[in-house]
Amino acid sequence: MSPSGSLLNRSLLEVSQLDLETIRKIFDKASRLRKAPVTERGIAPRVLGLLFFEPSTRTRTSFEMACHRLGIRALNFDVASSSVTKGETIEDTALTVEALGVSALVVRHPISGVCHRLVEYLKIPVINAGDGTREHPTQGLLDAYTIQTELGDIKGKKVLIVGDVRYSRVARSNMGMLPMLGAEIGVCGPATLCPGAEETGREFKVFRNIEEGLEWADVCMMLRMQTERQSSFEVPSLKEFSLRFGLTAERLKKLKPKSIVMHPGPFNKGIELTQDVLRDPRQRIHKQVENGVFVRAALLSEIMGVEV
Ligand code: CP
Repeated sequence: MSPSGSLLNRSLLEVSQLDLETIRKIFDKASRLRKAPVTERGIAPRVLGLLFFEPSTRTRTSFEMACHRLGIRALNFDVASSSVTKGETIEDTALTVEALGVSALVVRHPISGVCHRLVEYLKIPVINAGDGTREHPTQGLLDAYTIQTELGDIKGKKVLIVGDVRYSRVARSNMGMLPMLGAEIGVCGPATLCPGAEETGREFKVFRNIEEGLEWADVCMMLRMQTERQSSFEVPSLKEFSLRFGLTAERLKKLKPKSIVMHPGPFNKGIELTQDVLRDPRQRIHKQVENGVFVRAALLSEIMGVEV
């Protein structure tokens, strides 16, 4: 899938589809939207379908809030009470939703690559809101936007990704996007959850000691332990993982004063981080959520052709 300058009527399945010009355009538009007052807009004759086969708080509601900003209608399909429970396949469900008249579809699903399969069936654009362990491109966009707005620039910044890299679609999207924007990536965690460059084919530093990683980092991006995707053999216990790699106020002493702490959410308090980390002034977790609305609104305006 090659990068393209225009996203109009195109699907977004992975970050490699985005070129630098498009990313910058989305960021500029997100910044404009962030400053714009919320006003009543005429309702655009477009409907965004939201089809989530996995739970979500941030992604689904920020797409809804983004629609509100743009005057687009968001139509939530409740998968639990849909005909999926009667055995309808995801392809047939998506085709039905398309036939109902939605203009674009946001999809989250536990199977990696499912959105790639859907675009073979559908005429409308598909936005990947997280497919298994593969990608979460709008999270990658909002994380990069947060680093840019909080630190001034991404170029030359050292981003430490901590925890369950192996099963994290957020890590995969960030490891694809941030180097494009000039960041250096480091990963930190047990070897079972943090594969090295030889396994992934990507260039990054590996830290097996979180204190060393924190001393190096401008950004510490903690990841959720994806226990629903892991086998039972990756870590001896969550407690052991937390003791070795969890972020605490004590460990934060190693992080530079101007560095920031991120987490895509939802976080497991007491596993990836402790309550006192949330009180640290370098924490930007809710800023990520806030930025997600504007970045997704900017992306939707590009894909659905809504002027802002
Ligand atoms: N970061 C993220 O995707 O959160 P949700 O699962 O709540 O959407």
